Amino acid sequence: MKRRIPLLVAVIIILASSQACKRMLSSDEIYKLHKELNTIDSHTDTPLRMMRQGTDLAIRTDPRKNGGKVDLVRMEEGGLDGIFFAVFVLSSPAFSNQETDEINAAIKEKKAKWTAGETTITKLSAKDIIQRRRSAQRFDGITTVEKDEFLRMLDMLIPRRDTPPWDAISWQPRIHVVLFIHRVKGLEPGLYILIRNESAIDSLKANLSDKMEWLPIEKTPDHLNFYRLVKANAQNASATLSCHQHIASDGAFSLGMLSEFDAALETSPCVYKHLYWEAGILGHILYLEAEAIDLQGTGIGCYFDDAFHELLGITDTQFQSVYHFTVGAALNDSRLRTILPYEHIRRD
Ligand SMILES: Cc1cc2nc3c(=O)[nH]c(=O)nc-3n(C[C@H](O)[C@H](O)[C@H](O)COP(=O)(O)O)c2cc1C
Repeated sequence: MKRRIPLLVAVIIILASSQACKRMLSSDEIYKLHKELNTIDSHTDTPLRMMRQGTDLAIRTDPRKNGGKVDLVRMEEGGLDGIFFAVFVLSSPAFSNQETDEINAAIKEKKAKWTAGETTITKLSAKDIIQRRRSAQRFDGITTVEKDEFLRMLDMLIPRRDTPPWDAISWQPRIHVVLFIHRVKGLEPGLYILIRNESAIDSLKANLSDKMEWLPIEKTPDHLNFYRLVKANAQNASATLSCHQHIASDGAFSLGMLSEFDAALETSPCVYKHLYWEAGILGHILYLEAEAIDLQGTGIGCYFDDAFHELLGITDTQFQSVYHFTVGAALNDSRLRTILPYEHIRRD
């Protein structure tokens, strides 16, 4: 009997370790699975906080700084699909009715605020915008974009659950956006960065030149990790880095998509193509958001990646640029004619 114990232990260890191997999922797979599952929190005391003045569940809060543990931003990020609000009412019917009415009113008001976040910025339909989208060949070099419009475009680059086109991919953002801002009202010209995945902040800070300012931009939605890196006229740099193309310097801003690279490829070599899918989605969003506010964009595939990395102080391949883009007020080339899609099969 004594001799059997080590054997039994060995069998248990082998079984346990093979189970562990079977259960090993990559972080992408875990994230995908989590996104597919409906996750419900069966009890939160959030309505108590809603009764407090100034509470807005549409913005990110921090429980360590007097905020709550629940808000829509973190619900979306964390993949929480629904919650049950707990409501405490006194047992007397009169009190209970009054309190219930107050809570209902508070919830209605918050609901109104949440939907107000999805502002209408154009009367054009999605179809109109998609069909009229064209790449700009030249920009006017003078038009300034409003800060709200610009921030909205950045916000649209952050994935939202169950929202196209983000529902087409299953991984967390690996691409961050380095912006050459030329003409955005309320922002000094210079080099800026939008970090699309909070978990990359430390590693970006460690990999970019230590001369970067990392100045958080005021009056920006809390969930946007948007920083100024360098205050400077970035027009020459952006044109030069984009194979000397003036579309990068004459727009309101241009940008380079800086991807997490070594760590991403360690997951699997096939992640390489995922990086380009993600960059393509970002490009499409920028194209359509620009059209929606009467601007235009152009994808920039011709750029000097080594020089761009050098500008940022990047010395290895932990982060690499995968695509560039530019946005501004386009000058139309009268030599080009745009016809409607499928014009040749139109009957009317
Ligand atoms: C991945 C990609 C890279 C591009 N690179 C450049 C570029 O470096 N310079 C440029 O002027 N246009 C560039 N463009 C714009 C293309 O020239 C343009 O998309 C193409 O002529 C089709 O026109 P359309 O976008 O109006 O349909 C790029 C477009 C894409 C999708």
